[in-house]
Amino acid sequence: MAIVKANAYGHGLIPAAKATIKGGASALGVALLQEGVALRSAGITTPVVVLAPTLPEQADSLVAHNLSQIIGHPTAIPALEAAAKRHNTRARIHLKVDTGMGRLGLLPDEAPVLGKKIAENPHLFFEGIATHVAWECAEDMDKATHQIKTFAACLSKLTDISVPWRHAANSAMTVHMPESHFDLVRVGLLTYGIPPTQGAGALSLSPALSIKARIVQVRNFSTGQTLSYGGTYTLTRPSRIALVSLGYADGYNRRMSNKSHVLICGKPCPVVGAICMDVIMIDVTDIPPVSTGEEVVLLGQQGDYKITVPDIAQWANCISHEVVSLLGARLPRHYVS
Ligand SMILES: Cc1ncc(COP(=O)(O)O)c(C=O)c1O
Repeated sequence: MAIVKANAYGHGLIPAAKATIKGGASALGVALLQEGVALRSAGITTPVVVLAPTLPEQADSLVAHNLSQIIGHPTAIPALEAAAKRHNTRARIHLKVDTGMGRLGLLPDEAPVLGKKIAENPHLFFEGIATHVAWECAEDMDKATHQIKTFAACLSKLTDISVPWRHAANSAMTVHMPESHFDLVRVGLLTYGIPPTQGAGALSLSPALSIKARIVQVRNFSTGQTLSYGGTYTLTRPSRIALVSLGYADGYNRRMSNKSHVLICGKPCPVVGAICMDVIMIDVTDIPPVSTGEEVVLLGQQGDYKITVPDIAQWANCISHEVVSLLGARLPRHYVS
């Protein structure tokens, strides 16, 4: 299952979804009904699972668009059942089991009982059973192992019921824990070529996304000049500063002010002063003179240097998921293949 929620992690929902299908995805995972409807409106017929709870009044649309809904509580069933009756079909349901994440889901003891009821209901189709693991870093391995054992024990109580898709693994689990794979893995970061852990960096992943801009102006400043809001950066030498029309409104996080760098003419150049909503300033004093129109790589490769999503996450003190899912709507997306 390619996870394409949040605008396909910033990559653009429809083109990314189509690419993952072409690449062999059996299913797509979204968070919201609206994302599922957008996929169907684009003509995508691949199974789509809505991974976050929806409201009872959204059941009609879910069923009408043949979307599968993950549920973590029996109260979600009546609306789906009623909608399925109205549409003369069966609502596709995945049951979520809370094996320790402490978010959505039934307790492992409750899940087999509800699973049996779903399987016996002629208006419902018991399509999947899932859990989600609270994995953030390699240190979470013991807890993740325990969660997978708990899930396997829960599944063993469903032997007389057929469920096509049993799933648990996100990208990190997919890489590091084969016993979590079951019938389906739910891969977000990996789909986009982003390593989910430091250890996964050894895989030969190709990032799907680069962010490029162009210099709009170059200015010469004297020693002592402070730059941008709050004057957080003071020049200690006569400097050439390039301006780029991109900022935190585009997802270039303000917390990276005075920490990040970009690539120009194949060389790393520091971003200096506070990152603004629509402008960043780059010290280009140490590279050969550049002018308006010169390419700036904010994420991706130029020459021998690379800037990765985990690099940006480190500068911004956040996780890779945030870096890409917060890319702004106004960044034009160009698809090259
Ligand atoms: C339920 C669920 N499964 C899978 C994923 C994919 O996670 P990752 O991008 O780490 O592979 C997510 C992401 O948030 C999720 O919420």
